Amino acid sequence: MTDAVILAGGLGTRLRPLTENIPKPLVKLAGIPLIRRIVDSIPGDIERVFVAAGYRADKLSDYFKNDRDAGERDVRVVPEENALGTAGALWNLRNELGDEFVVFNGDVVSSLDVSSAISFHRSMNATATISAWEVDDTEAYGVLRIDAEDRITGFVEKPKKEEAVSRLINAGTYVMNRHVFDFMNGSSFSLEREVFPALCSDRIFGYRFHGHWIDCGSLGAYLQAQSTVMISERRGIQKGARLEGCLIERPVSIERGARVRGARIGPNVYVEAGSAVDEGSRLDNCVVMEGAKVGCGCSVSGSIIGPDCTLPDNAVSHNQILVK
Ligand code: GDD
Ligand code: MG
Repeated sequence: MTDAVILAGGLGTRLRPLTENIPKPLVKLAGIPLIRRIVDSIPGDIERVFVAAGYRADKLSDYFKNDRDAGERDVRVVPEENALGTAGALWNLRNELGDEFVVFNGDVVSSLDVSSAISFHRSMNATATISAWEVDDTEAYGVLRIDAEDRITGFVEKPKKEEAVSRLINAGTYVMNRHVFDFMNGSSFSLEREVFPALCSDRIFGYRFHGHWIDCGSLGAYLQAQSTVMISERRGIQKGARLEGCLIERPVSIERGARVRGARIGPNVYVEAGSAVDEGSRLDNCVVMEGAKVGCGCSVSGSIIGPDCTLPDNAVSHNQILVK
């Protein structure tokens, strides 16, 4: 039986102040919390999901307690008293996990087909399989050296640009066998800095996939992910959205119960339920979260307007995260 672990204990520093009260995996992307998107991507035959939580673990517990979509699945939030790191978080679960498990970074949105990654892992008889994605700028990621048989021969976390050995990066989802615990001990902290480099002497493989992949951990990446998701999910103006005299440039999504009057909206704007945008405002590349109000004549670009936040008339927000 295969289990799943979602790593959800990070501080979400790059999304502050939005993450001052909620952990990053609970931040909504195009109306759906990041962690819900991950849970939904887990194959149906994986019955047990462990959420390794730390920072604001209480919020994650509440979310899954009240979650009506979890179905039959057993989602267990396991809080860490002190941040254990990505390796420590797994070590902490070693007595719970079975022979094979899939591990997810809690802030990644992608088109990875998890079942195919598991099949690949088994066919390679691998100890660990790392999902792999190609990017132009590797600086914010773990970089993989990989041979012609997809075997990972080197792993360097966030190398300097000139020291990166390839453009292939760790996409933040892993399939693992229990044997990985032989490469850790109680004091291991980081999968990326300690365990993966050590596993290069064992059987560790890279699994490439197609479609889209984004780590939503920063403002720019979050907004890029929003655009990708709106396009791929064909989101638009939802029934029950109140829209009057607006100029729309897609992709734009306006949720049921949101009110937008006389504004220029788009591209890449998501307006959540219960929020409002007033006349003469111009919004692009942004999200207006639940209950937020954008006054008249505002200019909003490259920004997250957090839940219940109010922008007064004629306010300007460029590349900012604003909260109540
Ligand atoms: N339980 C637990 N405990 N989870 C943690 C801890 C911890 O102490 N520290 C971080 N995490 C979780 C975060 O919540 C996040 O979901 C995941 O581990 C990765 O942490 P990030 O802070 O988002 O790391 P990153 O984006 O800088 O880099 C990671 O992701 C990249 C791809 O998205 C690394 O895995 C890179 O190698 C990778 O390329
Ligand atoms: Mg991240």
